[in-house]
Amino acid sequence: MVNKIKTIVLGVTGSIAAYKAAELASRFTTEGFCVNVIMTESAQQFISPLTFRNITGRPVVTTMWDIASEFSVEHVALAEAADVVLIAPATANIIAKIACGMADDMISCTVLATRAPIVIAPAMNDNMWSNSITRENVARLVKRGFTFVGPARGRLASGKMGLGRLTSLDEIFGITLQVLGRKGDLAGRHIVVTAGGTQEPVDPVRCLTNHSSGKMGYAIAEAARNRGADITLISAPTTLAAPPGVKVISVRTAEEMLKAVQDSVKKTDALIMAAAVADFRPVKAASQKIKRQEMSELTVELEKTPDILNEVRGNFIRVGFAAESRDLIANARDKVKRKGLDFIVANDITEKDCGFGTETNRVTIIDGKGKVDELPLMPKDEVADRVLDKLRGVLK
Ligand code: PMT
Repeated sequence: MVNKIKTIVLGVTGSIAAYKAAELASRFTTEGFCVNVIMTESAQQFISPLTFRNITGRPVVTTMWDIASEFSVEHVALAEAADVVLIAPATANIIAKIACGMADDMISCTVLATRAPIVIAPAMNDNMWSNSITRENVARLVKRGFTFVGPARGRLASGKMGLGRLTSLDEIFGITLQVLGRKGDLAGRHIVVTAGGTQEPVDPVRCLTNHSSGKMGYAIAEAARNRGADITLISAPTTLAAPPGVKVISVRTAEEMLKAVQDSVKKTDALIMAAAVADFRPVKAASQKIKRQEMSELTVELEKTPDILNEVRGNFIRVGFAAESRDLIANARDKVKRKGLDFIVANDITEKDCGFGTETNRVTIIDGKGKVDELPLMPKDEVADRVLDKLRGVLK
């Protein structure tokens, strides 16, 4: 879970994408951040400060010279309050000013005065983005540790397609959280997480799979990213978007997941297997679609898939999940022992609000020493943080 009292300074500059910053402000505010918005004069041509004021419940800074502003006493007050400065959308003009160290408006002034990390989400005409002047400015800022997110390719204000569009808000949101969490309690750790349900082919159109949506594994990957860890997410097919700032390896079958896990754990601190790996697969998948009219009945011979968690061992922490429909604790304890795990996260999948596909989960964490920690029903992102709290303790 992200720290609820962090302060974000959101700089909004004059781009047609300025209206999207309102959605960003809303998301950060909903997540519990204190959002202080600064708008340039040009930004105010596109969207009203009142919008941000209502969304954030905070005064919006529109000039350096407002003597009534709580930030006017000290022109660097915003810079000092910031845990992160995000400029979205950022025009070529503000990027150029920052790259030159100018401080003649409240955004560039705050950037120059802050010690907080800075994230820039550019939005501009494609020729302006590809211009060597902008390229040099961006390179200079990247060298100084600024994080750029985007731009994306798509339809621009000019009507033509090109590279210069403000990138997706999910991307900006995710990368900002990652930058904020850089010095978190999992900083410097590498964690491999698996998610989703593997698919074992029967023929080119059919497969054996299960109801895993991937939500639990993705929530762990995102939570660990937000706490500073470097994440490899090995994902079976899901409908979820790849979390920004996370290395995603897409796999389909248990065999492919095994290979990806083996390759990824070479230099890892922990493996968390939240994936629902199929336990059985057809011995032989038909190479052509099996035709209904050609057979009266069909028997598919199955064989066991590799038990990834059991096979992949090494000098790293191994965490399993257990989806159980009966004898939750006894079965989970047995898995901890059999697979030699550091701990297991057990969920009773017979309940409506937990397990497969739900937004919430109710889990019991059982460690190798037999300690049982029963957690109440909570959103999967909070479960993720509780699992990571346990992991951090074991890593120590
Ligand atoms: O994806 P969601 O919709 O959010 O749902 C979340 C979840 C229910 C899938 C998740 O919380 C969960 O419980 N995942 C593990 C499901 C499972 O396969 O449990 P299991 O008891 O069959 O396996 C025990 C452990 O061994 C698991 O960590 C599993 O990843 C691993 N395993 C299982 C089989 C296999 N062939 N190889 C494995 O490594």
